[in-house]
Order: sequence, then structure tokens, then C-alpha cells
Amino acid sequence: MSITRILPVRHSLLLLLLYIGCFQTSYARSFYSDNSIQKRNNLEDETPACQIYCYGPLLHTVQMAQLYQDSKTFVDMKLKLTPEQTYSEFEAFMTSKNHTPTTDEIREFVNNHFDDLGKEFVPWIPDDWTDHPAFIDDINDPDLKQWGMDLNGIWKDLGRKMIEDVHMNPHFYSIIPVNHPVIVPGGRFIEFYYWDSYWIIRGLLYSEMTHTAKGMLQNFMSIIERFGFIPNGGRIYYAGRSQPPLLAAMIDSYVDFTNDKHFGIDALDILEREFEYWMNNHTVQAKGYNICAYSNSAPGPRPESYREDVETSKVFPTEEEKEAHYNELKAAAESGMDFSSRWFINDQGGITGNLTNLKTRSIVPVELNAILYWNAKIIAKFHKQAGNESKSDEYEKKAAYILQAIEAVHWNEEAGVWLDYDLINNKPRNHFVPTNLSPLWTRAYDSNLADKISTAVLKYIETMELDKYPGGVPNTLYRTGEQWDYPNVWPPMQYVLVEGLDNLGTEGAKNISAKWGHRWLTSNFEAYRESRAMFEKYDAERFGGHGGGGEYDVQKGFGWSNGIIIEFLKKYGKEISLSNKGNDGGNQPKSDEIF
Ligand SMILES: *[C@@H]1O[C@H](CO)[C@@H](O)[C@H](O)[C@H]1NC(C)=O
Ligand SMILES: *[C@@H]1O[C@H](CO)[C@@H](O)[C@H](O)[C@H]1NC(C)=O
Ligand SMILES: *[C@@H]1O[C@H](CO)[C@@H](O)[C@H](O)[C@H]1NC(C)=O
Ligand SMILES: *[C@@H]1O[C@H](CO)[C@@H](O)[C@H](O)[C@H]1NC(C)=O
Repeated sequence: MSITRILPVRHSLLLLLLYIGCFQTSYARSFYSDNSIQKRNNLEDETPACQIYCYGPLLHTVQMAQLYQDSKTFVDMKLKLTPEQTYSEFEAFMTSKNHTPTTDEIREFVNNHFDDLGKEFVPWIPDDWTDHPAFIDDINDPDLKQWGMDLNGIWKDLGRKMIEDVHMNPHFYSIIPVNHPVIVPGGRFIEFYYWDSYWIIRGLLYSEMTHTAKGMLQNFMSIIERFGFIPNGGRIYYAGRSQPPLLAAMIDSYVDFTNDKHFGIDALDILEREFEYWMNNHTVQAKGYNICAYSNSAPGPRPESYREDVETSKVFPTEEEKEAHYNELKAAAESGMDFSSRWFINDQGGITGNLTNLKTRSIVPVELNAILYWNAKIIAKFHKQAGNESKSDEYEKKAAYILQAIEAVHWNEEAGVWLDYDLINNKPRNHFVPTNLSPLWTRAYDSNLADKISTAVLKYIETMELDKYPGGVPNTLYRTGEQWDYPNVWPPMQYVLVEGLDNLGTEGAKNISAKWGHRWLTSNFEAYRESRAMFEKYDAERFGGHGGGGEYDVQKGFGWSNGIIIEFLKKYGKEISLSNKGNDGGNQPKSDEIF
């Protein structure tokens, strides 16, 4: 079987000349060895501030000086002068310091040329916020009801509106200007993120904030119009990487809640454009199918974690290998699971290792293809609603092809579940990740086979002992210290499991879905009761425990956590009670009063 990857176009002579023309100092030329010169994507090409925030000697010098505890701080700071002025003053500064400035001198340069971070946004109370959305009335337990009220209130803390200056002087900021206010995740994440917004928007819709949700969708659509894809988050330095493509599903949710079918139909051009971007720019071949994997098209270390990436790249002797490593890091960031042993392939083809073993681009991920199937189905549906049968058929055919590819590449009869596929060793990766069940969530399976799939999947859950964790199903079963590994439990993945098993529709699948849904609600409530906070991630080993590990401190807020709990309160609020409170988890026998 031949496996070839279709990589973004590498450098052409013309681009090389253009590029060298941009960086004329000898410093720049020596910093960029030839093999790091490649075609940049259109976001970077069209954005002058990228020479400050995305790549280049200024970014390198400042980030390597480690002025801030979190590398993301610098790239979120506002410029005092234009990017061009800043850049030329930086060159003069470097020359005057003989290209070896001290840390204090770099700090002084930054203080003179940058303002504090967070200047682009002001807090914003959503205009459609109400204090008593209807989902509250579906909750019986008084403590849970109050919690629902509190969570609804947190939307007001997470609302952000861009100041006028961002639109007038966009080049002074790393933020991508958008017209409508947004709900941000919280903590260090002070801008919008792509896949987070799926669960945030569903939460907003349950909170009856359809206008806010619509504005966020319009922002995303305008970003696709401008750049051809949605970057990982709302900053220019996320150029070259997206995140799991959930815009179509967000719009589908919006249309479901509002019955505004025109909104979906009007979005068709943009949704098709995003779909094409994924199908053209992320394609690999496996078992004779064109199928998608996460990738990246912007060279260099992640700007927001620059020094960290340079550090892990040190074990690689050549520039080419370092660049490959940066690509793997950014592709993992594109998956949203940064970082995880899920993306490790060591020299023996095994999963143990560290970040230097990242091979994200060579692993075909189940959920990406399941989500792309969903995209094709949604686009087909909107075309049908628009009365365009031929376009609808075209997208049904695309969906059917992806479904076939998922069955051939991902479905694993022995494991009884879908598995990621390793393109280096041509073999399935038989390791647990919640995404192994993600086709259930996006309905990327043949519904005629629901009984057979249900038997297989329930057996898999039993074999892997996925029900034994009091704090929810962990992201992997390996403890590596990375944040998307054991024992961390991630809200979107609990959602994928609970909704997927519910969709499957068999009694056994529905039972385990409800059990995990209840456990997620009560465990999150326990954490909230103790700390009055919602967390980005939680702890499988402790009922009510929250997560840690990875590159940064655990974040509070938190957009997707709140959105998912609001949806689960709506879903289970009538049947769940805390009077029989606390730990339903682990292998303890089920109590009839809870279930
Ligand atoms: C996708 O790939 C094509 C062909 O390589 C390239 O021209 C285009 O700029 C890429 N799109 C984006 C948004 O990066
Ligand atoms: C990662 O593993 C490689 C190879 O085993 C080793 O050389 C390197 O020091 C490790 N890096 C870290 C950060 O642990
Ligand atoms: C369906 O869409 C295609 C492509 O946009 C267009 O050429 C065709 O006229 C449309 N057909 C109908 C019935 O609207
Ligand atoms: C599902 O749960 C119900 C209620 O607890 C129980 O009666 C039934 O036997 C369960 N079914 C399966 C297939 O586990």
C-alpha cells in the first residue's frame, strides 16, 4: 500500500527572493536557514503585524529572553508604533547592541515599544442576556437550579467587545478584528477559540442568547471570507493551523434553535469553502482513501509558546528536523489536544515517549473525519432546504465517500470501535481516546448496524474499564504529565461520549450515556461547590477534582465547561437530584434513586 502525503507547496524561487527581500539584515538571514523558508498562508501574507507576532528575529529575540512567565503574554501585547516602524527600530536596536542585547535591554525595548496585553477588548454584557432562561425551569433540585442561574450569570463575565481602535488600527494588535462581540473561554484565553465555540454557542442558545450566538457565527464566517479558514484562535499568530471544523455544526445548532433556515442557506458558500480547505489542505492517503489529518502551514515555533518549542527542538540536530518538530507541535495544536500521547509514535512504533516523539501529521484522527462527514451532511441538508437537489446530492456523495473511508481506515472489528491510524507503521493505534467513539456523536456510521455497533462498543467500554473513574472518563490511559493525558478529563470529550452513546439509541448505550452524563453533572457540581469555579479540565481519579499538568496553570472560567453543563442541566434537570448526593462513580453499585 502506498502512502503519500500531500504537503503544502514548498518554496519556489520567486517566494524565496521575495522573502529575502523582506529581511535584509544578516541577522535575519542567518536566523532563517533556507529550509525554513516556505510559502506562508494568506493570513500571514496579508498581515503586516505578523513580522512582529508570528515569526522573525524580533519575536525570536524577545521570546528567548523569557521576560514573562507565560510566553503567550508577549504576543498579546499591543504595539505603540506601526509594525514597520517597530521592526526598523528593532533592527537599529540590535545593531547598536552588537546583536547581543542583555535581557534588561530587551525588556527596555519591549517596554518602549509595546503596551500591556488585553488592550483590544473591553468587558461586554451581552445585550440579550436574561436572568431566567427557560432551562432553569427544567431543573428540580434547588442547588442545581441555583448553579444553573450562576452559570448563566458567568456569560456576563466572559463577554468581550473589541474597541474601535482595533478596527481603525488593526496592525497595532495581534488580535484578528471581528465586528461582533464574543464569549471567550476565560483565564489566559482572552480571545475566541474555534472548537471551544461549539460548546459555548450551544450553551448560549440554551441561555436564549441567540443574538450573541449569531454574532459569533458571523465573526467566523467573515474570517473564512478573509482568510479561507478559521485559525485555531482569534490571533494572527495562530496562522497556519485551524481546529476541529465545527462551524457547520454550530450553524446547524443555531438553525435548530431559531428555525432561521435562511441563515444556514446563506452560509452555504462559506461552509463549502471551509470544507474544501479541509479536504484539499489536510489530505493524506490511507488504505487507498483520501482522508484527512491535522497539519500546519506556518513555519517556526508556536509564537505563543516559542521558547518552549525551541527547547524541545534542541534534541534534533538539523534545521530540517527542528522544523518538522515545530510542524508536529502546531498540528497537535490544530487537533485541540495539545498535547497528548495520542500523537506520540516512537521509533519502535509505540506510544511511549515525550513531545519529541510527536507525529501528529502521520496519525489519521477518527474525530476529524467524523466531523468532516458531519459537515458534508449539514451542507447537503442546507442545499436541500434551498431547493438545490443537485448540490445536495453532490454533498451526499462526498459524505458517503468519507463514511466509506472511515469504515475502511478507522473501524476496527477486533477492538469493536474506531481507531486512529498510524501512517508510518501502517497500523491502527489500539489505544483509548474518547474520540474513538466520536462517529457516534456525528452519526458517521451506518444506522442499520446500530445493534451490532452497540454490542461491540459496550464490550469495548467494559474491556477498557472506562466506567470505573469517579471523576469522568480520562482522555487517555497513560500518565505522561501532558494535559490531554491521564488523569485529565476534558468537558468536550465527556460530551462526545455522552451524546454519542445517546445517539446510538440502544438501551445499553443509553443507560451508560445517562450514567456518565449524571456523573459529569454531579462531579462538576462538587468541584463548583468547593471552589465556586468552573474549570477547563477535571480529574478522572477524584469525584469533584479538577485537572492540572501541561504547559500552563489550570484555567478557570470556563466557556466550554459552562456550555456543556447548561446543556446537561436542561437534559437531566428533571430526573436528577442531589439529595442522594455525591459520588455515584467508580464501580459502586448503581442506586435506583439516582437512575
Ligand atoms: C490550501 O492549499 C492551497 C494549495 O496548496 C493553497 O494555495 C492555499 O493557500 C491553502 N489555503 C490556506 C487557507 O492555507
Ligand atoms: C525526550 O525523549 C528523547 C529521546 O528519548 C530524549 O533525548 C529527550 O531528552 C526527552 N526530552 C524531554 C524533554 O524529556
Ligand atoms: C444549484 O447550485 C448550483 C451551483 O451553485 C447552480 O449552478 C444551480 O443553478 C443551482 N440549482 C438550483 C435548482 O438552484
Ligand atoms: C438500563 O437501565 C434500566 C434502568 O436502570 C435497567 O432496567 C435495564 O436493565 C438496563 N438495560 C441494559 C441493557 O443495561
